[in-house]
Order: sequence, then C-alpha cells, then structure tokens
Amino acid sequence: MTEIAIIGFGTVGSGIAEVIDENQAEIRRELPEGIHVKYILDIRDFPGSPYADRVVHDIDVILNDPEISVICETMGGKEPAFTFSKRALEKGISVCTSNKELVDALGGTLAVIAREHNCSYLFEASVGGGIPILRPLRSSFAQEFITSVIGILNGTTNYILTKMETEDLDFEEALRQAQDNGYAERNPEADIEGYDPCRKIAILASLVTGMNVKYQQVPCEGISKIDKKDLQYARAIGRAVKLLGVCRHDRATNQILVRTAPYMVPKGHPLYSVEDVFNAIMVHGNMVGDLMFYGSGAGKLPTASAVVSDVVECIQNAGKNIDIGLRNQPAVMGDAMAEKVSFFVRVPAEQADKAKTYFGSEIQPVSIGVESEFAFTTPEITEGDFAARIKEFDGAKSIRLL
Ligand SMILES: NC(=O)c1ccc[n+]([C@@H]2O[C@H](COP(=O)([O-])OP(=O)(O)OC[C@H]3O[C@@H](n4cnc5c(N)ncnc54)[C@H](OP(=O)(O)O)[C@@H]3O)[C@@H](O)[C@H]2O)c1
Repeated sequence: MTEIAIIGFGTVGSGIAEVIDENQAEIRRELPEGIHVKYILDIRDFPGSPYADRVVHDIDVILNDPEISVICETMGGKEPAFTFSKRALEKGISVCTSNKELVDALGGTLAVIAREHNCSYLFEASVGGGIPILRPLRSSFAQEFITSVIGILNGTTNYILTKMETEDLDFEEALRQAQDNGYAERNPEADIEGYDPCRKIAILASLVTGMNVKYQQVPCEGISKIDKKDLQYARAIGRAVKLLGVCRHDRATNQILVRTAPYMVPKGHPLYSVEDVFNAIMVHGNMVGDLMFYGSGAGKLPTASAVVSDVVECIQNAGKNIDIGLRNQPAVMGDAMAEKVSFFVRVPAEQADKAKTYFGSEIQPVSIGVESEFAFTTPEITEGDFAARIKEFDGAKSIRLL
C-alpha cells in the first residue's frame, strides 16, 4: 500500500477518502499495491467517523513519517496551506491540491520547489472540478500551439444565468434559488463578481504559456449587473449570455490576452448549450482545431476524483518530477485595450442618434419592444476605442459578443 495523507478534511478532503475506499479496486488496476490514507490533518476531530483514528493536528507527524509519499492539500486559502505544501515538497513528498487560490498565487513557486526535490505539485482539481483539463493540456497537447482556451468555469453563475433564461427570473431571485439549493455561498461575491472563474482562467493561461499569470492581471467582470432584458436581447439575436474565462495566445508575439466577463454566445457554438451547474472548456490547438471538455465543475466527489487522479500519477512517477510546464516567470500580457471585439450595447432611447454618430452606420439595431431604450450591436472595435466612445453615453450598458 502506498501511504498518503489528507490535510483539510472538509468537503473535498472527505471526498478523497471516500473515492479511495469506494474505488480501491479501480485504483488497483493502475496501482496494484493500492492507496491507503494514513493520516488526516484537520483543526477538528471527527468522532464517530470511520477515519477518526487517523486524525492528527500536527503537520510534523505527517512530514516526519517516511512512509508518506503524497499529501492531498484540501484546506483552501494561502496559509498555512502554502507553508505545509512547501515543507512537504522540500522533503520530496508530492502534493496534490484543489486549492485554486494557492495555485494562482504561488503555484509557480511550488512547482519549482517540487522540481528541485524530485517530486510533483499537481492541481487538476483546481480548475473545472472533476473535468480533466490540466493533464490533457500538458500531455495530449504537447505537439500543439494552443491559440485559445475559452471556458464556462463557474457552476454557480452558470446556474443563475440558466435560471434567469429558462424561468424568466430576475438576477436576485435566481441567486436566492442558487443559495437555497446549496450552489451559491451566503456571501456569493467570489462567484457573481467573477473572481473565482478569473482565478481559474489565470491558472489555465499560466499552463498554456508556461508562465505565471496572476488573477490580478486579468480584467474581471461578473454577472451581478446582468438583467432579464439582457437575456431577452441575447435571445433576439440568437445568443445566450454566459460568464466566460477567455485566454488567447498569439504565436508571433508570445503575448496573451486574458479576460473574465459575460459574453453573448451564438447558437451553434458548443458553449451555448452548457447549462445549470455544468462547466465546459474549449481549447483550440493550431493543428487539432477545437476540442471541448465538459462536466461537473465542482462538488465533493467529482473534485475529489480529480485530486485522486493526480495522486495516482504522482505514485506512478515516484522519485521523479512530473513537469507541468509551469515556470516561475511573469507572463507577457498583451494590451487588453488593443483586443478587437464586437459589443452589444443598450443606451436610453433619446441617445439613439448619438449612438449612430459615435458607432457608425454599421451598427445593427436589436429590438425586444422596449421603447425607452435603443439597443444595437457594433462591428469589431478595439476595447480601447469602445471604452473611449461608450463613456460619452449616460446610462449605457454593454456585453461583449463571442
Ligand atoms: N467544494 C468544492 O466543490 C470545490 C471544488 C473545487 C475546488 N475546491 C477548493 O478546494 C479547497 C477545499 O474546499 P472545500 O469545499 O473542501 O472546503 P472546506 O469544506 O471548508 O474544507 C476545508 C477543511 O480544511 C480545514 N482546515 C482549514 N484550515 C486548517 C488548518 N489550518 N489546519 C487544519 N485543517 C484546516 C477546515 O476545517 P474547519 O472547517 O474547522 O475550518 C475544513 O475541514 C478550497 O481551496 C476550494 O476552493 C472546492
């Protein structure tokens, strides 16, 4: 048996123990010796749990046990998760995590430490929950130049937008339903303001370029300002509103453009029909073309399953570093204001003529029978140009078109 430890026995951590127990036979197809959870580190005790006798409160018990070869870090947050992970890697113990906050902030640092100590730092579960995306990116795409990664990376906001669309709900009511169903936290800010998907697209962008993209470098908009009319307008032009993480990588300049924002996605695009709490990630390789990865973006067992897939890979590569292609160097970010994109725009009706003057005769009016406003789509325009023009309008609202 290969001995492992779980640090942080909450939703994902307890799911890892469950996956290992329930699917030990499946794991043994890959690892005939099997995996055993020797220790669980948490602040709490878990009396009555079948794992109660494995609970410890001192990380040194785990780090000083030479039998431990992998630690699953599912505590969340930066500290003490960073210090515990660093100390484990320095001892040659591989770390597998679902902690996107830590991966985004210090994943490059931990990857380098792992390389120096012939062990691995893997974080499949930190993006897209149960969806295998990071491993395919580094193995199946080894021969590709990845030009774009576009994803629905947050199940909560996708659920809210789906509810608004299918049940004609206001944002507030859809958010309330998401909270009542346990999909949104009581403080939903990280989801609805886009911070969570922003972290995930930053991690994906880091892996695509091999350099560190921090979420603070990524322009980020959430869905809290989206209303029912936006969805009706989207429908009128054969589109649906989705909160996307978008990363585009230019081969000639090696620059990347990364953004999190609501987009109107056209019918026929694979992301158009991704609904409810599901996540999906489209990757475009210059040779293979478009590929889409779809599944449960969160949840106890799907996320735990992704962590265990990393544990299996670490054990198969014991004593070696699995190179995830992440270097601890800042990414070369392109000029976000130079990106060209079309916009959907709403302005008060009395500013219709001004809109035609500012955005030109190529704009396409969109109507849902609301007389108090003038809505239209623009041809492609740079972000900078658009920002300069739209600020001349009072009460204007815009959404990008994919
Ligand atoms: N839940 C999901 O579906 C999901 C999906 C993808 C990624 N993730 C990520 O996975 C990580 C874990 O999420 P989760 O939902 O499992 O969180 P959770 O249920 O809150 O579990 C975290 C556990 O770690 C324990 N803990 C916190 N600080 C500790 C410390 N200093 N020493 C020992 N134990 C400590 C917590 O104990 P207390 O409860 O006593 O504080 C709790 O039992 C987060 O980074 C999250 O973003 C979660």
